[in-house]
Formats: sequence, C-alpha cells, structure tokens
Amino acid sequence: MEFYDGLKLIHVLAAMFLIGTIPFDYLLVRRVLAARDPSRIAKTLDDLEWVENRIAIPTAGFLLLSGLLMSWGPWARWSLFGAPWFPTVGLGLLVVMLIVFAAILPAKYKAIRAWANGGSQAQMPAKDWQAWSFLGMALGLTVVYFMVVRPF
Ligand code: HEM
Repeated sequence: MEFYDGLKLIHVLAAMFLIGTIPFDYLLVRRVLAARDPSRIAKTLDDLEWVENRIAIPTAGFLLLSGLLMSWGPWARWSLFGAPWFPTVGLGLLVVMLIVFAAILPAKYKAIRAWANGGSQAQMPAKDWQAWSFLGMALGLTVVYFMVVRPF
C-alpha cells in the first residue's frame, strides 16, 4: 500500500463519518423537539454538541487535509487548479458546508437551547433549523456525487 492509498482511505472514511452524522443529527433533533419536553431538548442539544465536537471537527479536518494532499503537493495525483475539477468543487462545497454546519446550524440550536432552558411559554425560535439541515444534507450529497462521478 502506497502513502497515496493511505490518504485515500482516510479521505473516504472521514467522508463516511462526516456525511453519515447528518441524517442521524437531523432525526435525533426532530424527535426530541416533537416530544416538547424542554429539559430533554436542552440536554439532547448539549449532548449533540459534545458528540459533534468530537466527530465532525476532526473528520472535517482529516477530509480537508487528505483531499488537499491528494490534489496538491508531492503526493498529488490530481490537480486542485485544473481538469478534472472535482477536487476544486469539493473544496468549495466543503467550505459552504462548514459555514452551514459549524456556524449557522449551531446558532439555531443555541437559540433553541436558550429557549428550552428559559422555560418560556413563547413559540420556539429558529424554526428554520430543518431547512438548514436539508440544505447541508443536499450539499453533502452533491459533494459525494462530484467526487464519485467526476462529470467535468
Ligand atoms: C465534504 C467533502 C468531501 C467529500 C464528502 C468527499 C468524498 C470523496 C469520496 C467518497 C471519494 C472517493 C471517490 C471514488 O473513489 O470514487 C473522494 C475522492 C477524492 N477526493 Fe474528496 N471529498 C470531499 C472533499 C474533498 C476536497 C476538499 C478535496 C481536495 C481539496 C478532495 C479531493 C479528492 C480527491 C483528489 C479524490 C480522488 C482520489 C482518487 O481517486 O485517487 N475531496 N472524495
């Protein structure tokens, strides 16, 4: 096994972990919100953040680093700045995904958690969290499509 094969293995494993947690997180949050139990909501969102800090952050790092090393530098077999363009597209979409999953969605969950902790009778805020989850999911599937099919 060459070093490049090791990079590719890390890349695909990281992609499995990163993309695999998206539907898991979505279903868990949806289920717990449907239960309408504020203490359970706050606790689950806390736990979700704890888990994601330990899964999503390292796997996104491994994915980015292995992808860059396969397309730029001494071990590269693909080009980051030329055809086929899938590494460039992957890089661009990964940045957008990081904005959605590391900035926008956590802010939504934070608002929901504050609402749950406050025991307020008001309507739950950040109801658009589902739309952002779906957008993130669609971005994840689009990257995998470009990585596997490599249409241009
Ligand atoms: C969310 C982001 C990403 C996901 C889910 C992802 C997923 C994948 C998957 C599943 C493959 C294997 C495709 C196959 O062998 O048919 C692959 C290959 C590859 N990816 Fe990514 N990738 C992502 C981001 C990136 C980035 C940011 C780069 C580069 C900067 C990159 C560069 C590459 C390269 C060069 C290969 C080809 C490996 C080879 O066939 O020799 N990827 N990616």
